[in-house]
Amino acid sequence: MNNKFYPKKEMFQEPLIKNMCEYKELVEEFEKDYEGTWAKFAKEKLDWFEPFTRTLDESNAPFYRWFDGGKLNVAYNCIDRHLKTKKNKAAIIFEGDNGDKRILTYRELAYEVSKTANMFKNQFNIKKGDRVVVYMPMIPEAAITMLACAKIGAIHSVVFGGFSAEALRDRIIDASAKLVVTADGAFRKGKPYMLKPVVDTALEHGCECVEKVCVVERNEQEITWVAGRDYSYNELIKNESSFCKSEPMDSEDPLFLLYTSGSTGKPKGVQHSSAGYILWAQMTMEWVFDIKDNDTYWCTADVGWITGHTYIVYGPLAAGATTVMFEGVPTFPDAGRCWQMVEEYRINQFYTAPTAIRLLHKMGADEPSKYDLSSLRILGTVGEPIDPAAWKWYYEEVGGSKCSIVDTYWQTETGGHMISPLPAATPIKPACATFALPGIVAEVIEEDGTPTPRGEKGFMCITKPWPSMIRTIWNDPERFKKSYFGDCKKDGKPVYFTGDGAMIDDEDYITITGRTDDVINVSGHRMGTAEVEAAIKKHDNVAAVAVVGKPHDIKGEGIFAYVVLKSDDGIADELEIIKEINSLIKTEIGAIALCDDMAFVPDLPKTRSGKIMRRILRSIVKGEAITQDTSTLEDPSIVQKIENIVNG
Ligand code: WT7
Repeated sequence: MNNKFYPKKEMFQEPLIKNMCEYKELVEEFEKDYEGTWAKFAKEKLDWFEPFTRTLDESNAPFYRWFDGGKLNVAYNCIDRHLKTKKNKAAIIFEGDNGDKRILTYRELAYEVSKTANMFKNQFNIKKGDRVVVYMPMIPEAAITMLACAKIGAIHSVVFGGFSAEALRDRIIDASAKLVVTADGAFRKGKPYMLKPVVDTALEHGCECVEKVCVVERNEQEITWVAGRDYSYNELIKNESSFCKSEPMDSEDPLFLLYTSGSTGKPKGVQHSSAGYILWAQMTMEWVFDIKDNDTYWCTADVGWITGHTYIVYGPLAAGATTVMFEGVPTFPDAGRCWQMVEEYRINQFYTAPTAIRLLHKMGADEPSKYDLSSLRILGTVGEPIDPAAWKWYYEEVGGSKCSIVDTYWQTETGGHMISPLPAATPIKPACATFALPGIVAEVIEEDGTPTPRGEKGFMCITKPWPSMIRTIWNDPERFKKSYFGDCKKDGKPVYFTGDGAMIDDEDYITITGRTDDVINVSGHRMGTAEVEAAIKKHDNVAAVAVVGKPHDIKGEGIFAYVVLKSDDGIADELEIIKEINSLIKTEIGAIALCDDMAFVPDLPKTRSGKIMRRILRSIVKGEAITQDTSTLEDPSIVQKIENIVNG
């Protein structure tokens, strides 16, 4: 599939960027006056309480500051300012697992957010700058809680509901959170599941910072209530006033923390700003999703990930759009659920991950044809490179060969899209993220900043600061510098390195080739091998372990562990150990990090200085020939032994 797919112009009424000429003009505008152009957009797109006086401050690089002097409120920009013109427009359409529905208009959302914000202030003594951990299912109260925090200037840290009590505890402690907002549980595949018991376990020790727990009653299953600590959201909210002033925030005041995996065992609390973040969330919503007033937009992510933050809550609402929130899973009651919802709500933009596309393709290749999907205009994908087979099915069967596919490349740290087609303008090459968005200076370079020759793999860097970039790692500014500005330099100055490899072709199209570090991408989610290894090492009988990614049909990459046991008593024992190890991973991290496969090996390939040669382990699991030089290994014969065990 080397041919290009051109946007169907008739699908678009008034796109903000109509063609590649306009794209280039905009890129040039940024080139000529980078700060001035950003300032123009910031003034035009956002409502400010006080104007900013300085667009970009680079004096303390890489701790960049944007729009200093300005005051605004993100919740105000997402809700209140729309009340003049859209108060009866649906802001959030919620569909429950079992099909129950709830629509919140902008006016109703304003009402709920204000009441919740007042509850946080009055009942839980939450003040500007306090951290609130949100451990919630996909229900409107999750978005309401985030926006209520934004309204009063509290910093939320949403923890994905699939994380274990241990993982939740680590994140609560690192952020030193005062309040945890959770739910009794929710529904998945027709059955209730629980969250509150996980919070109870997390709070058993080490979380002295937490004063109160606020519980939304969603599935109404029995839970334990700790007197003086746990309170019912549903009860407390009744007494609160529905008027709450939006706290004027500095542009650089943190909006939220979101923990993500890195190359050590400890997750990083990515800190985002208020003004820069919301500006780019809104701009990309308008450019990449071509969001229009009558559109209904659906992103299937979970609010526990950055995609849920930027493209379910903040971006759509800042743009005044209607955003769909879905509690369930795409395969329940059957693999037609998403398409049934697209038909029912007349969805115009559908945004999901390649792993979901592969799953839906596999489980119901014909399902899309059973529904009326004619409302669709744009199909989005995110999280990992999409393979050509999945791309083709998505384009032809879901999009009827007339929708634009936007393969959006970005990260938790970038806040919003970095590289993506523009739906009405960019000729698409399947499985290719295409070009950097206007304002984003993305370059594929070598460590010293020289451009990587076309067709070769280099480092994917963003070489100019941009408004929605990560500001720091919570509590760890040194790690921030080292993780993102330690590897690549341009003109002698450290530049932001994404951790991904990329390639530019002879037409300047950028293809992302995947992580270059010890991070694996499981179902579009980042998993640090060190985190999984740390969990496995807690097993009494494990002497050493190395975790690598193994290609997986649905997940993209699965987790494969090479385990060296202290004492190995044969096959029966190993099966037992596999179970024990997976149960440890479940306790330490959560089911999302379970190993797909394990091999028990006599030793790991180590250099004489003790460094594990992971590249060899990656090649073995992929069944590739070993091209690395093994002569520097402490015991070169180990490679053959491991290969025999893994590949028989
Ligand atoms: C990593 C970021 C961004 C929201 C979801 C994941 C990979 C992301 C693409 C894409 C190829 C992609 C990268 C990136 N990635 N989008 N369109 N094509 N790779 O967020 O957990 O922060 O992970 O996901 O490797 O670094 P995240």
